[in-house]
Amino acid sequence: MLLKTILPTALAAGLAVAAPAPQATPSHDAGEVAGYTNADAPFGDSTVPPLSNTPTSFGLDSQISAIQTAAPSPGEPGAADTLRSDAPLTGPTSHGPYSGTATTTGAVSNSPTAATIPALPPNPTATYYNTNGALQHVQPAPYTPYGGLGTNGTEPRYMVNSDFDYESIQLGLYQEWIELDLFNNGLAIFSEEDFLAAGLTAEDRSLIGFMAQQEEGHATLLSNMLGETAAPQCTYNYPFTTVREFVDFNQILTRYGESGVWGFINHLDSREVGQLLAQSIATEARQQMAFRQMSGLHPMPVWFETGIPQSWAWTFLAPYISSCPENTTRLAWQNFPALHVANQANINRISPNDTANWERVGNRTADPAISTLPQNASCLNTNETGYGCRPAISRNRSEPLSFAGKRVDLLWDAPGSPVGPNNSYVTSTAAGAPAFVAWVAQLNLTYTPLTTTGPNTGYTYQPAGEVYQSKGAVNDTMFIALTDTDIYLTPFNLSMINPHVAALGIYQAG
Ligand SMILES: *[C@@H]1O[C@H](CO)[C@@H](O)[C@H](O)[C@H]1NC(C)=O
Ligand SMILES: *[C@@H]1O[C@H](CO)[C@@H](O)[C@H](O)[C@H]1NC(C)=O
Ligand SMILES: *[C@@H]1O[C@H](CO)[C@@H](O)[C@H](O)[C@H]1NC(C)=O
Ligand SMILES: *[C@@H]1O[C@H](CO)[C@@H](O)[C@H](O)[C@H]1NC(C)=O
Ligand SMILES: *[C@@H]1O[C@H](CO)[C@@H](O)[C@H](O)[C@H]1NC(C)=O
Ligand SMILES: *[C@@H]1O[C@H](CO)[C@@H](O)[C@H](O)[C@H]1NC(C)=O
Ligand SMILES: *[C@@H]1O[C@H](CO)[C@@H](O)[C@H](O)[C@H]1NC(C)=O
Ligand SMILES: *[C@@H]1O[C@H](CO)[C@@H](O)[C@H](O)[C@H]1NC(C)=O
Ligand SMILES: *[C@@H]1O[C@H](CO)[C@@H](O)[C@H](O)[C@H]1NC(C)=O
Ligand SMILES: *[C@@H]1O[C@H](CO)[C@@H](O)[C@H](O)[C@H]1NC(C)=O
Ligand SMILES: *[C@@H]1O[C@H](CO)[C@@H](O)[C@H](O)[C@H]1NC(C)=O
Repeated sequence: MLLKTILPTALAAGLAVAAPAPQATPSHDAGEVAGYTNADAPFGDSTVPPLSNTPTSFGLDSQISAIQTAAPSPGEPGAADTLRSDAPLTGPTSHGPYSGTATTTGAVSNSPTAATIPALPPNPTATYYNTNGALQHVQPAPYTPYGGLGTNGTEPRYMVNSDFDYESIQLGLYQEWIELDLFNNGLAIFSEEDFLAAGLTAEDRSLIGFMAQQEEGHATLLSNMLGETAAPQCTYNYPFTTVREFVDFNQILTRYGESGVWGFINHLDSREVGQLLAQSIATEARQQMAFRQMSGLHPMPVWFETGIPQSWAWTFLAPYISSCPENTTRLAWQNFPALHVANQANINRISPNDTANWERVGNRTADPAISTLPQNASCLNTNETGYGCRPAISRNRSEPLSFAGKRVDLLWDAPGSPVGPNNSYVTSTAAGAPAFVAWVAQLNLTYTPLTTTGPNTGYTYQPAGEVYQSKGAVNDTMFIALTDTDIYLTPFNLSMINPHVAALGIYQAG
């Protein structure tokens, strides 16, 4: 099998960095480090005394030193800003598909100056390299090394500062709004018993409710950085029918939400906006991990969280927005045709190898796996280590969801389908005939050749390439695209792939 692999490198800027001397290959999985074999810390006494005196009283506690205090009321100094939406369950609560006809169609556009962005040589000013560990420039103040952006005392302005910023944060806002509705919706339509059957307790429900409240804060923050044209909450159309499918959908949705932000955050013109956005996406990343844990998946089976272009995040998100209110600000991003993985691994199976074709609840690319399996095939019904997948801090699948060399059967849509709010966007591609599958995971973009087997169908094999020696790059819930070329790109110029993308999908690896 020929795998065409493109190797991005951290040394792309042409820097010569001495590689550490190779060592006798230790097993990173076992955490083995020379000198620490058979560790048995004498201070870590492992004998656990039998329980004989457990807590029985949970009433009033010791009284400790304290004062009466309260948050300042509106109008008083130090009072907090209002939330844009402070009523979790009173937003749009109707759900389902949109059946009307769009009055406006297509992405926001004016008169593009060229069809693609041409590649340029490295920025001539990007030359800093420190060989002696000393300060290379005079310090502007004590304890203050020269350099940095937004460090010269200028007053911060927490507002988007270009069309790029505006469209990126507007997209982020669309994502925050669906999360606010989605997390509340799952709590509203599934009972405590439904959650318990999926191994999730009342405390887990409270956590999901708290995550919805986090979205109220995130939506408010992003709205404030946009101004009066910030998009409002829309009406959504969800694919799940069980709690298990709900948390699976959430781990996929928050994955592209998080990765969508990593893709653009360092390209923002406004560093101030980037600062606050980073502080919200750090929370979203925790949500993503918690939903993986609720799905009985390994919480973070990668070394690096990947970034994707905005048009990718919008492609994944748009099919779940059925309609938006009149005058909702429209987006400039592209909607790519859907790339379907026919034999996508089912996270609910004891044996992912046994997954049948099309074991998804629907055919939107971010749809969850079907959870209603025969009882003896569902990993929810066993606690056997390596096989069980009930919610846990961590799970370790003896039989991986997918693996290097797995044949991946693909089917893709033609462009031209209506999608997104009020069916008012249209899928499109500027690519020629697809020839490669691009795998975007961790720091990596790896291509494998596509074998076409018929109109809009074909297959490839999961690549084996590593991030750094020892860890395969492909793991986690990640992203695949059909492309017409194997153009070399790295995390900071990945969006240059867009003119070459014929279809876009999600791949459920480990
Ligand atoms: C301060 O830094 C900003 C960029 O962060 C720059 O645009 C501005 O010109 C600088 N101001 C001064 C007074 O150097
Ligand atoms: C989308 O459809 C909804 C429901 O029919 C309608 O109220 C709304 O005005 C439409 N939005 C746009 C932007 O046309
Ligand atoms: C939509 O915008 C138009 C033009 O600004 C305005 O006349 C109309 O009242 C707005 N509709 C809503 C529902 O805000
Ligand atoms: C899953 O399929 C792969 C490839 O054929 C095989 O190597 C592996 O043993 C299978 N897993 C199990 C648990 O049978
Ligand atoms: C998804 O598409 C495939 C191929 O067209 C089809 O076989 C399958 O039934 C579809 N799944 C659903 C849930 O509609
Ligand atoms: C599960 O149960 C069905 C019906 O009893 C049986 O045919 C099948 O072989 C069982 N599968 C396994 C993996 O035990
Ligand atoms: C697995 O463990 C959970 C929690 O301890 C328990 O509720 C469940 O019944 C167990 N499942 C099986 C199949 O033993
Ligand atoms: C976890 O999985 C890895 C890889 O499959 C295996 O080597 C290791 O023994 C497993 N650990 C446990 C506790 O099952
Ligand atoms: C993954 O990215 C790292 C860091 O840029 C690079 O060293 C490695 O060669 C890449 N691996 C593959 C398979 O592309
Ligand atoms: C992939 O993730 C699984 C957990 O789902 C982990 O056990 C395995 O080590 C990871 N593989 C690689 C190559 O990182
Ligand atoms: C993307 O960046 C890498 C350096 O990280 C560079 O080698 C490559 O040529 C760039 N790709 C394009 C299309 O500019």
